[in-house]
Amino acid sequence: YEGRSVRLVEVGPRDGLQNEKQAVPTATKLALIAKLADAGLSVIEATAFVSPKWVPQMADSAEVMAGLPQRAGIRYPVLAPNLKGFEAAVAAGAKEVAIFTAASETFCRKNTNCSVDESFERFAPIMAAARDAGVAVRGYVSCVLGCPFEGEIAPAAVLTVSERLLAIGCYEVSLGDTIGRGTPGSTARLFEQLCARLPAERLAGHFHDTWGQALPNVLTALDFGVATFDSSVAGLGGCPYSPGATGNAATEDLVYMLDGLGIQTGVSLDALVDAAAFISDALGRAPASRVARAMMAR
Ligand code: HMG
Ligand code: MG
Repeated sequence: YEGRSVRLVEVGPRDGLQNEKQAVPTATKLALIAKLADAGLSVIEATAFVSPKWVPQMADSAEVMAGLPQRAGIRYPVLAPNLKGFEAAVAAGAKEVAIFTAASETFCRKNTNCSVDESFERFAPIMAAARDAGVAVRGYVSCVLGCPFEGEIAPAAVLTVSERLLAIGCYEVSLGDTIGRGTPGSTARLFEQLCARLPAERLAGHFHDTWGQALPNVLTALDFGVATFDSSVAGLGGCPYSPGATGNAATEDLVYMLDGLGIQTGVSLDALVDAAAFISDALGRAPASRVARAMMAR
């Protein structure tokens, strides 16, 4: 591992906060994003241009965009489920968006009110508009290691959806273990199938930690050459349309592990724990991250 580098995609302000019941003030979101940028994170998923009826916490997406710290080298992708969301995102200044679908029909419908095929019908005009506007598009596949409604998901289903996202022009596919059920065993079986057909450089791991497997799953994906991982400060997160789902791999836990392996991330663990302490304080609870708790206890 020594000498390798990993690109971290910080999803705390989006995945991390979208599931919070209490309304988080826009100023708090922006202060968090500034701290994450200070910590050295260069890709920060800032918000989501989704229906405010579906995810009220993301209703201030345009205000968040307007207040982002503009610094050289920092990218702020945002979620866009349809052309309406894409257009609102670009009008608010987004230079990069993420579209999302699933390897499970039932989850796709619960999350976005459409089938997987219909989600691709929504993506077509987004991809065309993104090409015209020079906006980069990332693709998410949810339920890659299990579905809250359908149970087991075949790796072949994940491969098909991932290939479709790359074929329509996504620069990368982020593989979401939405319910955090994957283990190093199922993660290895998934990446064996994916990496036989797709370059590891086009894949990212997005592991929720609900069952405590996020870090071992990252380590497993690293062994397949995957070098991009999504994580959330303080281990916040969860999808409101995935019952019982909890946070992503905590960015602090991931950085601590990667530091220990000699893998470069460009992120300062101390500054990151400051950010974790800040948002946990604002939400009125301790960080889910073990590393943040250990460092805060010193
Ligand atoms: P729908 O109800 O079928 O949409 O929802 P619609 O087109 O019929 O529109 C209904 C209303 O929403 C209309 O307003 C639209 O204007 C409005 P009304 O006329 O009733 O006042 N609307 C919008 N407003 C703002 N922005 C938009 C937008 N689109 C329509 N973009 C829709 C379909 C996709 C909109 C809805 O299902 C939705 O917003 N879903 C998003 C759910 C979500 O955000 N889930 C969490 C993110 S995904 C995730 O967490 C997984 C991930 O982390 C990876 C992993 O862990 O697996 C990425
Ligand atoms: Mg997620």
